[in-house]
Amino acid sequence: MKKFLAICSLITAFAFISGDLAFAGAEKDPLKARVPRADRGKAKKMKPPKELYKKSKKASDEIVAAGKKIFEGKGTCVNCHGKLGDGLGPAGKVLTPGPRNFTNCKFHKKRKDGELFWIIKNGSPGTGMVAMVPATITDDEAWKVLAYERSFCKKWRKKK
Ligand code: HEC
Repeated sequence: MKKFLAICSLITAFAFISGDLAFAGAEKDPLKARVPRADRGKAKKMKPPKELYKKSKKASDEIVAAGKKIFEGKGTCVNCHGKLGDGLGPAGKVLTPGPRNFTNCKFHKKRKDGELFWIIKNGSPGTGMVAMVPATITDDEAWKVLAYERSFCKKWRKKK
């Protein structure tokens, strides 16, 4: 019986490892909300500071350019989310679930600015997306980088 149990746990462990390998880098349903339920209502209502922009759709070219600098620089976002924002950065490829693909316009449509800000600030619990504020960037920088991430969806800022 002991041997049987040992074999069972070995098989389970192997299934987990191979499953992880097979799916490393793949996103978990990007349309499903990430902010924990208890914080979601408040997160959806969070607004950027007025001097930056009112909505990410209306962010100026200057703000988006500043966001790009943070994304590729001190924010380190590029390592996981990739230079093209497709979630295929070198460090992202080994994560399960994989990083968000920001070129997916359906994802952007599903999320309020405040929800994305909440995740950038606090992280997505239980994933490689860790809290970025205040260790890596400031609140203002998080709003700027958010505007840049939105711009990977080509349609986002055209709808002015
Ligand atoms: C170590 C890798 C890593 C780094 C660095 C990283 N991310 Fe992520 N990010 C992830 C992963 C993995 C997910 C997917 C989490 C999930 O599925 O819940 C994610 C998801 C996200 C999401 C989607 C949240 C949602 O609502 O679905 C946003 C926005 C985001 N990251 C922004 C950023 C920004 C901005 C930076 C840089 C300041 C950054 N990330 C840096 C790994 C990373």
